[in-house]
Amino acid sequence: MRLLVTGGCGFIGTNFILLMKERHPDWKIFNLDKLTYAGNRKNLLKLEQDENSGYTFLHGDIGDREFVTAVLHDHKIDAIVNFAAESHVDRSINDPAPFLSTNIMGTQNLMECARQAGTEKFVHVSTDEVYGSLGPDEPAFSEKNPLQPNSPYSASKAGADLMARAYFETYGFPVSITRCSNNYGPYQFPEKLIPLMFLKATAGEKLPVYGDGSNIRDWIYVDDHCTGVELTLLKGRPGQVYNFGGAAEKTNLELIREMLHLLNRDESLISYVKDRPGHDKRYAMDFKLAEKELGFTPKTSFRQGIGKTIEWYTANREWLEDVRSGAYREFMENWYGERK
Ligand code: NAD
Ligand code: DAU
Repeated sequence: MRLLVTGGCGFIGTNFILLMKERHPDWKIFNLDKLTYAGNRKNLLKLEQDENSGYTFLHGDIGDREFVTAVLHDHKIDAIVNFAAESHVDRSINDPAPFLSTNIMGTQNLMECARQAGTEKFVHVSTDEVYGSLGPDEPAFSEKNPLQPNSPYSASKAGADLMARAYFETYGFPVSITRCSNNYGPYQFPEKLIPLMFLKATAGEKLPVYGDGSNIRDWIYVDDHCTGVELTLLKGRPGQVYNFGGAAEKTNLELIREMLHLLNRDESLISYVKDRPGHDKRYAMDFKLAEKELGFTPKTSFRQGIGKTIEWYTANREWLEDVRSGAYREFMENWYGERK
C-alpha cells in the first residue's frame, strides 16, 4: 500500500507510523506535516535517514490545494489517514481561528483533492469530544449519539466530521471516521495532562488541577488507538463512524494521584486552579461496533500503559526539553498565569 499519513510528526501520528512500519514493512508511508509547534520531524528521523525504510517526509499544509494534489499524483497514493489537526482544547479557547482553518477547511481540502485523485480509502481521525459531555449515570457515547461539541476545538472536529459525512452521502467518497477517547503514551506534547504532570512532578513544581479535579476521562494507550485506526483502514466501511475507547474511566485527581505514587512524589504538589471554561465533565466510549465489525479491543491496561509511559518520559527527558519552543513557553505562561 502507498499510504499518505497527515500530521505524522505529532503524538499519535508518530506512534502510528512507527507501529505500521513494524507491522507492514512493505507499505510505503508518506508523512505530510506542516510542522506546527506540535510537530517534531526528529521523532521519525531514523526512518527518514534509512533509504530502505519506505518512509518519506513531506513538509506542507493539508489546506494547500496545489501541494496536496501534487503529492497524491506524484506518489500514486492509494489511501489517506488524516491525523493533522490543531488538537489542544485550551489553545482553542485562547484562539479558535487556526482550529477552523486546519480542522475544517484543511480536512475539506484534503478530501476534495483525494476525491479528484480517486483515492480509494480515507480515514478521518476524530474524537469523542464531538459528542459533548456525559452526566455521571449516563451510558457511554455510542456512534448514534448527537454531536454536541462544547469547545472551539470539538466544534471544529464536529464540523470536519459532518463534512466527511456529506462527502460520503453526496459523492460516495470512501471516508470512514474514527472517534477515540483520551490517548496517552510516548511523544505526547507536554501541554496535555499526562506529560505535563510528569514534567512538573519530576521538577518538584505544583501540578495545576482545573476546578476540583473531578472531571472524568476514558484513557487509552496510544498503540491501541493506532490499532483501531489500522483496522478501520483495512476493514472499515465507507460512510461509517467507529468509536474507540480504553475502558479506563478516571477522575483527573485519581490519575494524578496514581502518577505521583509511581513517581514517588508527594500529593502536596497538587494545586487547584481556575477551571477551564466550558470544561466537559465526563467522557466514556461504547465501542461495541468496533469490537464486532473490526475485531478491536484495547489490549493495554491503564496500569501497564502508564508504567510504560513514565518509563519512556524518564528515558527521553531530552525530548521533553527539545520540544518546548518559545511559542510553547509563551502560551503556557499566559494560560496558567490566568488560572491562578
Ligand atoms: P498533535 O497536536 O500532537 O499533532 C498534530 C500534528 O498535525 C502535528 O505534527 C502538526 O504539525 C500537524 N499539523 C497541524 N496542522 C497541520 C496542517 N494544516 N497541515 C499538516 N499538518 C498539520 O495531535 P495528536 O494528539 O497526535 O492528535 C492527532 C489527531 O487525533 C487529531 O486529529 C486529534 O483531533 C485526534 N485525536 C486526538 C486524541 C488525543 O487524545 N490526543 C484523541 C482522539 C482524537
Ligand atoms: O478526548 C479526546 C481528546 O483528549 C482529544 O480529542 C484532544 O485532542 C486531546 O487534547 C484530549 O483533550 P482533553 O481536553 O481531554 O485533554 P487534556 O490533556 O488537555 O486534559 C485532560 C483533563 O485534564 C481535562 O479534564 C482537563 C484536565 N487538565 C488538563 C491540563 C492540561 C487539568 O486539570 N490541568 C491541566 O493543566
